[in-house]
Amino acid sequence: MSSSMSLVGGGIFVLLVAGYFGQKYGLPPPAPKIVGIDLGTTYSSIGYYHAVSGDTTIVPDPLGKRSVPSVVAFLANGTVIVGTRAVEQQEKNPTRTIYDAKRFIGRTYEKDNQNFIDDKKRYPFEVKLDEKGHAFFEIPLDSGIKKLYPEDVGAIILKYLRDAAEKHVKGSLTQVVISVPAEFEELQRNATAKAAVMAGMEARRVISEPTAAALAYGLHKKKGVEHIVVVDLGGGTLDVSVLWLQGGVFVTQAMAGNNRLGGQDFNDRVQKMIVKKIEDKTGKGVEDKEDLQQIRLAVEAAKLRLTDLPQTRVEVHLHGREPFEYTITRSEFESINEDLFKSIELPIGAALEDAQITPDDVDEIVLVGGSTRIPKVRQIVGRYFNKEPNHGIDPELAVATGASVQAGVIGGGWPLQVAAMELPTKRRKRHFYTSEQRKNEEEL
Ligand SMILES: *[C@@H]1O[C@H](CO)[C@@H](O)[C@H](O)[C@H]1NC(C)=O
Ligand SMILES: *[C@@H]1O[C@H](CO)[C@@H](O)[C@H](O)[C@H]1NC(C)=O
Repeated sequence: MSSSMSLVGGGIFVLLVAGYFGQKYGLPPPAPKIVGIDLGTTYSSIGYYHAVSGDTTIVPDPLGKRSVPSVVAFLANGTVIVGTRAVEQQEKNPTRTIYDAKRFIGRTYEKDNQNFIDDKKRYPFEVKLDEKGHAFFEIPLDSGIKKLYPEDVGAIILKYLRDAAEKHVKGSLTQVVISVPAEFEELQRNATAKAAVMAGMEARRVISEPTAAALAYGLHKKKGVEHIVVVDLGGGTLDVSVLWLQGGVFVTQAMAGNNRLGGQDFNDRVQKMIVKKIEDKTGKGVEDKEDLQQIRLAVEAAKLRLTDLPQTRVEVHLHGREPFEYTITRSEFESINEDLFKSIELPIGAALEDAQITPDDVDEIVLVGGSTRIPKVRQIVGRYFNKEPNHGIDPELAVATGASVQAGVIGGGWPLQVAAMELPTKRRKRHFYTSEQRKNEEEL
């Protein structure tokens, strides 16, 4: 046996023995050195890899949430609120509650960029451009206007997650693997890494979200896997990526998507139908903000239940009206949204075309994002490829899980793993819109 072989063997032996005694005598497992973070547009999560067992843990925040809303709010006196609590006070404090900051991170805009002007109008808070064309937020505080860049907002979220994880592992965590959309260019990746530094962590690696999702399912270690399609359908965006896996190295071959399609659109259709039914029944328009909010929440909850149930009741108690209830079936939910669900196929087809492969060439399908729990969405994707998508990992936590796996690999976790690598891509993402959406295809 060569000396290097015995060194490796010896190392494994020591780990085995340590693991055995650790289990037998209840010693704590080695503390993680590096965490994995999914800094998402709408939700963020943090996790770490267990060196001995090879499991990952996604850490809950103080409220018990493993998906933390990527929302940061300020009170007039400067107090900062993050996550669920920030969402809860959003309606009362719209000009000081920042969400979607990631859409602006590391990007520059011309003063008259139409996309920026359109985006700006959608937000109740103030977004402006500085002289270099970087977006920033202006928040009115008692002490004056606070100027905040997207990476500052990212840093506040990252710090919140880091604090939760440090409390959980009872140790200091100063290194992170952080995921970004595949389409992010170097400046956007660097700005994200800078946010980590501002949160007191070194960004050991910035990896693409679809690559992370593939790592979560261990596809880098699986034999005979070459082409992987990752479909990410969240609250408001659809992203399709084709990955090419060769010798443990992931290459993004193609990207396509729809920046305005997601769970919110499915809810809106149902909400419109419910509002119409209430109005038809009572002959009175539904305009009260709190009433509409109540319907919105009831519809969201009903949608989630329809993932497991064939039908469910939507029940609301609006101001000055009789209680209203309606039983919605899963097939009704599916037919209301049929064209939206069907439109998922458009970017999938375009991404395959760009990668110059056919559905038959695809070895593995990975679903990411809460909306991929919808049975119809899984069915449409499965039928397209004539193959079951991977399942078993919560689609909302798949990216954080994969970032944690990568963190474990870099941190020298055990069992020994192929060190998955990723090559940068020069590909552009193709954008698609449903027929309802005005523009047909557009470069963002
Ligand atoms: C800021 O205002 C909030 C709500 O009004 C209050 O709970 C909090 O204690 C204040 N914080 C400081 C530092 O004054
Ligand atoms: C991004 O950061 C790296 C490492 O700090 C640096 O070498 C590179 O020039 C940066 N890229 C851009 C576009 O700023």
